[in-house]
Amino acid sequence: MPSQRHEGRTVVVTGASSGIGRRIAFRFAEDGASVVCASRSNEPHSGKYYDSDVTKPTEVVIREEYDQPALFVSTDVSDPESVQNLVSETVDEFGGIDVLVNNAGLFFEGDSQSTSVEDWETLLGVDLDGTFLCAKYAIPYIKEAEGDIINIASVNATEGGTGPAYAAANAGQVNLTRDLAVELGEHNVNVNCISPGYVKTPIQDYQDEESIEMSREQTLLPRLGEPEDVANVAAFLASDEASFVHGADIYVDGGWAAHRV
Ligand SMILES: NC(=O)c1ccc[n+]([C@@H]2O[C@H](COP(=O)([O-])OP(=O)(O)OC[C@H]3O[C@@H](n4cnc5c(N)ncnc54)[C@H](O)[C@@H]3O)[C@@H](O)[C@H]2O)c1
Repeated sequence: MPSQRHEGRTVVVTGASSGIGRRIAFRFAEDGASVVCASRSNEPHSGKYYDSDVTKPTEVVIREEYDQPALFVSTDVSDPESVQNLVSETVDEFGGIDVLVNNAGLFFEGDSQSTSVEDWETLLGVDLDGTFLCAKYAIPYIKEAEGDIINIASVNATEGGTGPAYAAANAGQVNLTRDLAVELGEHNVNVNCISPGYVKTPIQDYQDEESIEMSREQTLLPRLGEPEDVANVAAFLASDEASFVHGADIYVDGGWAAHRV
């Protein structure tokens, strides 16, 4: 039986078309929220980890299967105008914003020499600028609601080896979380970060069996992460049960960070 702990709240999830964001959107809908799904396209991604029967856009599933209000807004989180449009369409439809989940993200392989300047700018633009821009334009409404901001970074924020752009963008997101926490605490807005380890989503499609095996070894628990693992923590962080959790970076990584090799 769903808890309905987010009943009547409006939750904006970026990158909701796929993977972790899609599951976060479902989780909040299950808890009674109206969900705004913000991605460049609402086509669900496919890939080796994704259910082959996923054909319907996230917002359609929320309306049809969860019986909750949902809106898709085509959004490029790295573009200030596009983010302003996301905020105004959300407010026009639902009257405000209670929760923002900054989940949209990209990954490119490469070291400092093989990473092009364009790839660097693109990744930082989505993962870091996108988090800042969505927060910047949504904060006036979230303050009014005394709501929540949840940023999805990565366990790679505090280790090297994933390439410069991903490493820098995720580290930036973690410290941006702390800065926003300092700014917004007095307004009773909770700001927190989730740092996932290896989660089975299309972003991992580039990995071959050998590198997946290395991730299995790095993960202490005897399984890899599922999008649901992150979604459960996001819904908890935005709930009353977590009302004194603020400025935190929560690892949802099966022990990855405890076991750095
Ligand atoms: N899957 C993992 O193992 C893992 C681990 C650590 C952190 N993360 C983080 O979790 C987040 C979600 O990743 P995922 O694994 O679900 O990947 P995914 O590829 O399945 O989903 C990424 C989402 O971001 C969206 N997106 C990309 N560029 C965008 C843009 N410019 N504007 C709006 N939306 C855009 C995509 O459309 C998609 O909906 C990312 O920030 C990623 O860095 C994932």
